Amino acid sequence: MQTKNPDETVIIMTELVLPNDTNLYGNLMGGRLMYWMDIAAALSASKHCNAPVVTASVDNISFESPIKLGNVVHIEAKVTRAFTTSMEIHLRVWGEDLTHQYRYKSNEAYYTFVALDPNRKPRPVPQLVPVTETETKLFEGALRRRQLRLILGGKMKPDDAAELKALFVKD
Ligand SMILES: CC(C)(COP(=O)(O)OP(=O)(O)OC[C@H]1O[C@@H](n2cnc3c(N)ncnc32)[C@H](O)[C@@H]1OP(=O)(O)O)[C@@H](O)C(=O)NCCC(=O)NCCS
Repeated sequence: MQTKNPDETVIIMTELVLPNDTNLYGNLMGGRLMYWMDIAAALSASKHCNAPVVTASVDNISFESPIKLGNVVHIEAKVTRAFTTSMEIHLRVWGEDLTHQYRYKSNEAYYTFVALDPNRKPRPVPQLVPVTETETKLFEGALRRRQLRLILGGKMKPDDAAELKALFVKD
């Protein structure tokens, strides 16, 4: 299977916050944003593996700044690392006020997707080769984040998470 680089997996999504997307305070609802992020992440993962994918997990998302009614939402999704059948996708979100001409960071998150074969079973994905320094850091961190989410999901024993443990336990 051919390897890919992170730039080949980039998805940029742009949305406009309309009244139906907002809460009582006129801010974009978290659930609507997570829905858009899920779609952007799925497209990025699918672009990487050229197969249908499903969401396996979503890491914690904290909303740093609310996005206001009438503002633009920019979502960038990019694969950070491919494992055997799963891929980690990094999402970054900004709001933009076109009238007053400023752009602000809203939040970021990591999503994990799994590629499926025609029988809906997990299938192998191409490996991702980081190119830039930032991509390499995200690639290395992906292993620890994977261990943490598999432990929290009850799919890995803490004792097997060597790279994650190394962050906390010094010899
Ligand atoms: C995600 C799913 C395909 C995993 O299938 P599974 O039978 O548990 O398969 P496995 O245990 O062999 O795991 C397959 C991959 O999923 C990853 N995975 C499983 N659970 C995970 C979790 N909680 N977080 C992150 N990755 C997970 C595994 O690490 C493995 O990745 P790897 O092959 O790269 O090592 C399956 O649980 C599923 O279909 N879930 C529902 C998906 C869905 O409907 N999403 C929309 C949600 S609303």
